[in-house]
Amino acid sequence: MKDTKITDTIKYIGVDDKTLDLFESQYLIPNGISYNSYVIHDNRIVVMDTVDKRKTEEWIENLTKEIGNKTVDYLLISHLEPDHSANIKLLVEKFPNMKLVGNKRTFDMLPRFFDIDLSDRQVIVNEGDTLDIGKHKLQFFMAPMVHWPEVMVTYEKTEKVLFSADGFGKFGALDTKEDWDCEARRYYFNIVGKYGDQVQQLLKKAMNLDIKIICPLHGPILKEKLEYYINKYDIWSSYKPENKGIFIAYASIHGNTKNAIEKFVDILKNNGEEKIIVTDLARCDMAEAVEDAFRYDRLIIASPTYDAGLFPCVEDFLRHLKHKNYQNRKVGIIENGSWAPVASKCIKEILDEMKGITTYNTVVSIKTKLDSSSIEKMKELAKEVKE
Ligand code: FEO
Repeated sequence: MKDTKITDTIKYIGVDDKTLDLFESQYLIPNGISYNSYVIHDNRIVVMDTVDKRKTEEWIENLTKEIGNKTVDYLLISHLEPDHSANIKLLVEKFPNMKLVGNKRTFDMLPRFFDIDLSDRQVIVNEGDTLDIGKHKLQFFMAPMVHWPEVMVTYEKTEKVLFSADGFGKFGALDTKEDWDCEARRYYFNIVGKYGDQVQQLLKKAMNLDIKIICPLHGPILKEKLEYYINKYDIWSSYKPENKGIFIAYASIHGNTKNAIEKFVDILKNNGEEKIIVTDLARCDMAEAVEDAFRYDRLIIASPTYDAGLFPCVEDFLRHLKHKNYQNRKVGIIENGSWAPVASKCIKEILDEMKGITTYNTVVSIKTKLDSSSIEKMKELAKEVKE
């Protein structure tokens, strides 16, 4: 049986989903995802968020096992996205005396998701308010746009537990044995990455709290080395590179641009570069490419010219970066074009829409395949990248 104990009085009732094809209809989740939900036992029983409708039955079973014949007094709504809110109506009907705890925005938005009259069942909380349920005191902090406008986090003062909503979440079912960083980083940049400033504001609030446990809405409950995870969030949300390294994102129609990238990697290695990561944008997981662009301090983009523009997957990659607020990096450009190369111009135009992006002076322009002149340019670019 799964261990549901977080503390003696706080229990996990969430569920794993290992059969969903794409999370949010866009992200690959090879090891599934968890929809986390919690029960706090006290004079009043509180449920912290519901789960996705795909897992209603299992979640209700978990809840019933946890509370038996008792009734739920409060359902706390941290976030209205359907992977957490899908069962609000069901719970409202199951427990007629249960109150819903949310902020003004929660209740403004809730009727857009459910046709239920909640006028006499709302507990509207504001920044810093506390709900006393016995030994436990729940304090609320607004976290707008981490990742929706109504998001709030809850700090349980007695056991020092932060219920962090989507923050500190991770792809992967809870029984997945894998490194936290990799899938938490891919999750962060693709889901919350656009809202770095808002995450920074939330971190400032968290710094004033004595936190012993972090309970996110996805992924493992964090009980140790919390400063490690908080430090990662600080780096990611301030758009600073996490690691030194060159991330090369390329596409190649018939293999010539790929050959050029292989040559460029040799040149970089000869120049003493230790960390070079190469991805083929036509075949990779786009979310991972986005993650790596944020992770490393330098980015090289290589694209063939296609239909007098960019090769589509390269344009898609750049649009993803723009969406996610990619900023404060130095980017190198390699283009290919057999008769009228325009890829570098198109890449530059999209990069110019982003904040704090500069490009290296050297642009490598290949006319179908490498020749002595384009190899020389690559050496110049490699030199600039090193400086
Ligand atoms: Fe996991 Fe923004 O919902």
